[in-house]
Amino acid sequence: MPLTAANFQYIAGLARDSAAIVIDPGKEYLVETRLSPIAEQEGFATLDDYINAMRAERVPGTRHERAVDALTTNETSFFRDFHPFETLRQHIIPKLIEQRSGFKRLSFWSAACSTGQEPYTIAMLLRECFPQLNDWTIQIVGTDLSPTVLKQAGRGSYSQFEVNRGLPASYLIKYFTKVDDRWVLKDNIRQMVKFSPMNLIKPWPILPVFDVVFIRNVMIYFDVETKKRILKRIRNCLQPAGSLFLGTAETTMNIDPQWTPTTLGRATVYQAVPALAAAA
Ligand SMILES: C[S@@+](CC[C@H](N)C(=O)[O-])C[C@H]1O[C@@H](n2cnc3c(N)ncnc32)[C@H](O)[C@@H]1O
Repeated sequence: MPLTAANFQYIAGLARDSAAIVIDPGKEYLVETRLSPIAEQEGFATLDDYINAMRAERVPGTRHERAVDALTTNETSFFRDFHPFETLRQHIIPKLIEQRSGFKRLSFWSAACSTGQEPYTIAMLLRECFPQLNDWTIQIVGTDLSPTVLKQAGRGSYSQFEVNRGLPASYLIKYFTKVDDRWVLKDNIRQMVKFSPMNLIKPWPILPVFDVVFIRNVMIYFDVETKKRILKRIRNCLQPAGSLFLGTAETTMNIDPQWTPTTLGRATVYQAVPALAAAA
């Protein structure tokens, strides 16, 4: 049975207020396909009954969190879009190695990392191409709103389909072990990445200052004001010459002038305009 208009609006409002996810009218099918299985699992006869039960709760609780989790779009893959990782390998990391040879510390953040392929790609790339970093302190942080994807990310366990997408065969052989029908990352890579829950539109926890931030294919779902707020907050947790990668369909242009885009190799990298220049 199709969802009532009021219940669709309620869910669209919940997604917007809790995660800045925009579900426009016409996307009723999305709500139905994502939430119907949960409604059934929870024993409701219809999706409307389930949403009515949510609406009857005075304070949003775990049922609401579960619904928002299910409404997230978690599409990702190893080496997604390829070029950002080539730029990291050819340009950014060699320069960072020169700059940081005294401190021997590097830090990376994959924000909205979904099931972990992005931060693990960074980890594998470092191990594969930069053996000189083996005695450095490398911090790779992966965060996401969805507890479901973070659980898989922490396990580092992937289906055949997931490892077939973007991962070179040599990496699969070297860094994964086959366990039943899954491919599980070896501990030396898995332990390089620390995952934690984080909602980009709620207050942020105290974060380290990162050399490189990947925040790809998530702001695309947000309105301009939310993008502005997030880009500003990223400036506060990025090293002065740090690098920001966005998704291929994303940009800071016409949103936040405090970023300078540069083409490095075949990817666009954003750097924060130095505070003094920004104030001038
Ligand atoms: C399409 S995936 C992108 C994954 C990865 N960054 C990539 O580009 O392959 C978008 C991710 O953003 C997460 N997300 C959506 N809204 C969020 C929010 N408000 N705060 C944090 N993560 C969010 C979703 O849970 C989902 O895993």
